[in-house]
Amino acid sequence: MSPSPTPVIGIIGGSGLYQIDGLENVVWREVATPFGAPSDALCFGTLEGTPVVFLPRHGRGHRIAPSEINFRANIDALKRSGVTDVLSVSAVGSLREDLPPGTFVVVDQFIDRTFARTKSFFGTGCVAHVSMARPVCSRLGDAVMGGCEVLGIPARRGGTYLVMEGPQFSSLAESELYRSWGCSVIGMTNMPEAKLAREAELCYASVAMVTDFDCWHQGHDAVTVDQVVAVMTANSGKARALVKNTVPRLGKHTVPCVHGCQRALDHALITAPDA
Ligand code: ADE
Repeated sequence: MSPSPTPVIGIIGGSGLYQIDGLENVVWREVATPFGAPSDALCFGTLEGTPVVFLPRHGRGHRIAPSEINFRANIDALKRSGVTDVLSVSAVGSLREDLPPGTFVVVDQFIDRTFARTKSFFGTGCVAHVSMARPVCSRLGDAVMGGCEVLGIPARRGGTYLVMEGPQFSSLAESELYRSWGCSVIGMTNMPEAKLAREAELCYASVAMVTDFDCWHQGHDAVTVDQVVAVMTANSGKARALVKNTVPRLGKHTVPCVHGCQRALDHALITAPDA
């Protein structure tokens, strides 16, 4: 499907973002894909005139574990719904003293330590190797960071998100290892989401909302679900305000993206056309 000439903003909400404030003309619709069912029906609507498609990553009621998410179906469903820009929102642990719970990190790099997920749309008769050197669309990242500034949300632009398989949290040795690698935050969901968004030639940016210090911080207990939920509950208003502020500004840009996100496959296909 060729991209829509005007932006359609896809929001993938994780723990802490289960609805979009101010959404009008709301319709929930099942979207079928060749990869199976997405995490849930998709929620279509408009925010100050900008088309929005919302997908709860874990399904409504948070029923799907990170390793069980059908990431290919999720990205494919957004793409075939006309989405051009994907804004991913998720809860993460902090691997740095200067990123305390409550901080929003507009990450710009990932380390993918997942191992039990299907990570590509390619491979069965058609091989492609897209560049992941810069996995985040900086136009989208700038827009979200601008929203954090306007709203007074404590935020950091840039940082590396370590994506672990889960569902268990990390051991202390793992947490220390990721810190020694210079990672900023840790979570279980942004990969292969970001890789698949790139293969689908979608702009992608991620807001990682810090809920805990994982297990490395001597002054804090090791992370528990109760802690994640408590901080997320306190922060979900900020996440909803951020989406409401950012989407109408994203709606004003033109497609294709100036950073070439919609041309990611131009130099990526290696299979001969007649093979
Ligand atoms: N999500 C929220 N906190 C997390 C942590 N410490 N590790 C992995 N995923 C998380």
